[in-house]
Amino acid sequence: MFGNLTALPADPILGLLAKYRIDQNPNKIDLGVGVYKNEAGHTAILDCVKTAEKFRLDTEDTKVYIGPTGSASFNDEMAKLAFGEHDVIAQNRVRTVSTPGGTGALRVAAEFIKACKPGATIWVSDPTWANHTGLFQAAGLTVKTYPYYDYDNKSLKFEEMLSTLANVGKEDVVLLHACCHNPSGMDLNQEQWQQVCALASENGFTPLIDMAYQGFGDGLEEDAYGVRLMAASVEEMILCSSCSKNFGLYRERIGACTIIGKDVATTDIANSVLLSVVRCIYSMPPAHGAAIVETILASDELRNQWHEELAVMRNRINGNRQLLVDNLKAQGVTRDFDFITQQKGMFSFLGVTPEQVQQLQDEYSIYMVGSSRMSIAGIANSNVEYLAQSIAKVL
Ligand code: LMR
Repeated sequence: MFGNLTALPADPILGLLAKYRIDQNPNKIDLGVGVYKNEAGHTAILDCVKTAEKFRLDTEDTKVYIGPTGSASFNDEMAKLAFGEHDVIAQNRVRTVSTPGGTGALRVAAEFIKACKPGATIWVSDPTWANHTGLFQAAGLTVKTYPYYDYDNKSLKFEEMLSTLANVGKEDVVLLHACCHNPSGMDLNQEQWQQVCALASENGFTPLIDMAYQGFGDGLEEDAYGVRLMAASVEEMILCSSCSKNFGLYRERIGACTIIGKDVATTDIANSVLLSVVRCIYSMPPAHGAAIVETILASDELRNQWHEELAVMRNRINGNRQLLVDNLKAQGVTRDFDFITQQKGMFSFLGVTPEQVQQLQDEYSIYMVGSSRMSIAGIANSNVEYLAQSIAKVL
């Protein structure tokens, strides 16, 4: 049976990591996978996480099954983090399940959508995170794209996006990135969110918002603007959140899938389907990451510490954006890269050809995704001059 298979290429993002690890060049730079790195290039465990883990080690007294919903306290805290003091919570229209990471949340959402409407169409931005399309297709959904990033002008194709979404059917789903658009770093501003939310409300498509980077753009509250406005605008929506980046819990695999229904009765019915979806995929989520997050969010002291540690990560990435642009200018590069300083979150496209991306990898050991998506956190004071020199050479 296995003989029927043909080998598939390595994942465009995760495959880079393996190549980077075996590269012997001491100057190698990893701008591939979206993980935060400090100035020394290390992805350290947050101090608030260390404290919460110690607390868990001291107090945990059972490893018994937790159930498909996962941790109720974690789920409540995640809903509050996303929606704040929102009417939808007061109206008891929100149900959340803990999931194995943001990808787990997306797969649960996809299977839930399939249960609502087999073969449903989901519209994703062009471009979007490399794994979105495969993940939705694997669940049997039809994936279509709406215009989003203008590669030539380094801006949003907002009017084209709106006119495409205006023709999306009532039974379709539209995937939106809450903040820190992956891969482009181009976010909707508040006025644009208002227009998209108004369209969702008028036309009746179901929004699925992917929030993998809350706190990495402008701040925890600011980054949730679109999510909160959408929740106030429509009767039904789905939110997938991740704790991988903002809590640095990558390999613990913890995230959440939240649904909002139009009233308590339909939300409860939808939730029963959501739980059955979970049961049929992985039965119940891992508990460790959820326990860390709920401990942090339930304690004023740890929560404040987390806010500070998150601000350090956010500010370093924003600083790196400016650092790269300044260094490119210092190398005599005349092409305008200022757009990099205006984009948000972990990523931007450098805007070079796939051949130039390959040349950066082969000749300079600089690793970025083939689309020229750079993970800005991989830039440091110690490597930015070499990076800018190398980019200048391939340009
Ligand atoms: C990324 O886009 O690099 C991250 O979200 C990691 C991943 O799983 O692809």
